[in-house]
Amino acid sequence: MKFFLDTANVTAIKEIHRLGVVDGVTTNPTIISKEGRDFEEVIKEICTIVDGPVSAEVTGLLADEMVEEARTIAKWADNVVVKIPMTTEGLKAVHILSKEGIKTNVTLIFTVSQGLMAMKAGATFISPFIGRLEDIGTDAYQLILELRNIIDLYDFKTEIIAASIRNTAHVERVAGLGAHIATIPDALFEKMTKHPLTDSGIETFLKDWEAFKN
Ligand code: E4P
Repeated sequence: MKFFLDTANVTAIKEIHRLGVVDGVTTNPTIISKEGRDFEEVIKEICTIVDGPVSAEVTGLLADEMVEEARTIAKWADNVVVKIPMTTEGLKAVHILSKEGIKTNVTLIFTVSQGLMAMKAGATFISPFIGRLEDIGTDAYQLILELRNIIDLYDFKTEIIAASIRNTAHVERVAGLGAHIATIPDALFEKMTKHPLTDSGIETFLKDWEAFKN
């Protein structure tokens, strides 16, 4: 299973990348806007830090606009992936881009049907949103399970990025259900390494070691 970092904060990306667990990065217009930096500049910088796929989202709503933006974004780096919203216009764009060899991440997936349509259109990645589905009381895990079953059953090449991840339980569950990737906010990465018994265990070991030495 792969972990992507769901942030455009270069300082956080550099720091967490040192742990050896980061396989890529995802952004969206909200995430980019938080950094207050030029879109192209920040994506290019992230692409130099991380070897794996880095998603950068288009903002046009019509297929032609998306395709034009995507072609520009695709030139920024070899590892850039163009994020396209799950709409009929988005599907038209994905269809054209996949034939041009431009990698896409179809975002804002909330149903199996949406996932299927994106896979059929040629999406490299699909991003079902876990947290936002939970917010409306819908079983997000069932969606991951069904999407993965379909991919395996029909041998689709599309990979699932479990997105809108808010806590460690989300990561643990989607890992068990077969999401190929979880994209995780930077603050959560540190939490995933922690347990109070680990901290107290280290403290006890060191205390006992000091007592033994003296
Ligand atoms: C990443 O691809 C998504 O845009 C992101 O995970 C959305 O997260 P949110 O629902 O917490 O905004």
